[in-house]
Amino acid sequence: MAGASRSFGPVRAVDRIDLTVGDGEFFTLLGPSGCGKTTLLRMIAGFCDLDSGEIRFGEKRIDRLPAHVRDIGMVFQNYAVFPNLSVADNVAYGLRARKTPAGELAKRVEEALALVRLAEYGKRKPHQLSGGQLQRVAIARALVIRPQVLLFDEPLSNLDARLRVSMRAEIRELQKSLGITAIYVTHDQEEAMSVSDRIALMNAGRLEQVGAPADIYRHPASRFAAEFMGTTNLVEARALGREGGLLSLRPEALRLSEEAPEAWPRLAGNVVDLEMLGPITRLGVRLGDGTILNVAILDAPERRLNQADKVTLAYDPARLTVLR
Ligand SMILES: Nc1ncnc2c1ncn2[C@@H]1O[C@H](COP(=O)(O)OP(=O)(O)OP(=O)(O)O)[C@@H](O)[C@H]1O
Ligand SMILES: [Mg+2]
Repeated sequence: MAGASRSFGPVRAVDRIDLTVGDGEFFTLLGPSGCGKTTLLRMIAGFCDLDSGEIRFGEKRIDRLPAHVRDIGMVFQNYAVFPNLSVADNVAYGLRARKTPAGELAKRVEEALALVRLAEYGKRKPHQLSGGQLQRVAIARALVIRPQVLLFDEPLSNLDARLRVSMRAEIRELQKSLGITAIYVTHDQEEAMSVSDRIALMNAGRLEQVGAPADIYRHPASRFAAEFMGTTNLVEARALGREGGLLSLRPEALRLSEEAPEAWPRLAGNVVDLEMLGPITRLGVRLGDGTILNVAILDAPERRLNQADKVTLAYDPARLTVLR
């Protein structure tokens, strides 16, 4: 995709986006509400025209083709299943629209339902299924046409937290086993990190940073990327006694002095906040100049720490990222 743009009135929903997604890649568009994720996905699917730029599948230009000949399946946030049709008929929908012969249609619906582990559910109506099962119907319906590319627009946002975590692994596994290319939209940083080969972080219609999840997390290119990819400390270099401008330091790159390698620089402060979250304890530590650092340390039952304690912190200098 090159120079892909789309405005709605004065709003540049998608602003000169250049992207290449690899064959079989799980590629995620991540960003806050309104940054243009859905618009970009709809442009790929053929539900939204481009003002300028182009989209290709390999050599073939597709951005002027009608949606149904683009070889793309799409899974929506609200499942978009037809409540009055059986599960099997919902899945068959795209095949009927393509005038697939009855024998082949039945076979492919069966296959698609088996892929999402709903082989026994073909005759049921949507209201007889759970949220997770409905989402699997929506995936089967997109898969049954054997698309080259599968698009997902926040497919898990209607599910509860636990189901979201198991379904995202399921989607990832299915995508890998079928070797299909997936473009996945979410505003959830953790979800994006858990499933993606690469992430494109979007901000106000533009690409902020593109890379493997760990790369963006560890080497954010901007303040926006540093903050969107998880909790971080944005500190002026001089608060750490260093040269340079704004730095990003993740909470887990800090430790208590007695638990840290000797080579790490030390910082003295006071505990102003203490939250035991199970596997980790979060601390807020105020340094001498008033800077408050967010620290995440692994739980250790023998450690005694209280609100207002004086502590010495240490940080891993290799994990400082200079932002400007
Ligand atoms: N059909 C439309 N008409 C007018 N404005 C639109 C239309 N579709 C999207 N927009 C605007 O374009 C911008 C991007 O919207 P889009 O739906 O792509 O964002 P998003 O990243 O998917 O957000 P969310 O996470 O909330 O779904 C927003 O400012 C939105 O109001
Ligand atoms: Mg959206």
